[in-house]
Amino acid sequence: MKVLIATEKPFAKTAVDGIREIFEKAHFEVALLEKYTDVNDFYNAVADVDALIVRSDKVTAEVIDAGKNLKIVVRAGAGFDNLDLAACTANNIVAMNTPGQNSNAVAELALGMMIYMARNTFKPGTGTELKGKRLGIQAYGNVGRLVAEKAKALGMEVWAFDPFIPKEKMESEGVTVPATLEELYENCNYISLHIPANEQTKKSIGRNLVGRMPKGGCVINTARKEVINEEELAALMTEREDLKYCTDIAPVEMGLFEGFEKRFFATPKKQGAETAEANVNAAKAAANQIVRFFETGDKTFQVNK
Ligand code: 3PG
Repeated sequence: MKVLIATEKPFAKTAVDGIREIFEKAHFEVALLEKYTDVNDFYNAVADVDALIVRSDKVTAEVIDAGKNLKIVVRAGAGFDNLDLAACTANNIVAMNTPGQNSNAVAELALGMMIYMARNTFKPGTGTELKGKRLGIQAYGNVGRLVAEKAKALGMEVWAFDPFIPKEKMESEGVTVPATLEELYENCNYISLHIPANEQTKKSIGRNLVGRMPKGGCVINTARKEVINEEELAALMTEREDLKYCTDIAPVEMGLFEGFEKRFFATPKKQGAETAEANVNAAKAAANQIVRFFETGDKTFQVNK
């Protein structure tokens, strides 16, 4: 078996070493394509492999077409909006993610971003504290839960909204559950986004929700830029000089957010899962899932069924 690791944004060296060790034991061959700038390099590298590991790399229909021997694609991470699932399914390729493996890193960043915004992006001036403020978590999955736990430790009051998780479960974890998403925004000083990017969520965060936030409201986005209605959010921030937006994924139209000074910040390159620990966890999980798939037919974490 031959496996390609194609990562435009490479894993930490310890993570690549971890992958190599797992595949060596299984007698699988490993090819590594890092920091590629030409997608043709991806097409060439995938041509003769049986399995593929990626991060946010776009696995398009063209990549699938180039991977004539591909049987499995694993996105080492949570969000799989970068995989063309229809193309995978049409070519009998199993697509998987590695849920939970990088969640702690993302959750820590979300908290760090809240502190950064509360302290005026570390520019001179008086800031505020998180203690006593209300945090609204939109989507209570692996990351949302960890954000809730950490925010509570900082003395925040945590609310959460997730139509896919029973209210009782969230409440049993000390989280207040409003009846509607609108109520979450109306009542919270901070909103932390943990929704996936899909047809239902794309451009869903705009004027109708953020406009409901109380004075000084701050949106933290460690999810995906696609979920934001950038035009509406930027227009709202122009009208309301109290609103703040901090994102781990630079907006498509960066220009829209220019001039907001202490009220806007975007990391230059997505940092959420960029810790050694998250890299190692997600990379090794991806490798183990591939070995189990070929050795036992295990399809746990398949996302194209
Ligand atoms: C994820 O979906 O797991 C995160 O967004 C991490 O993405 P990355 O592997 O590109 O850092």
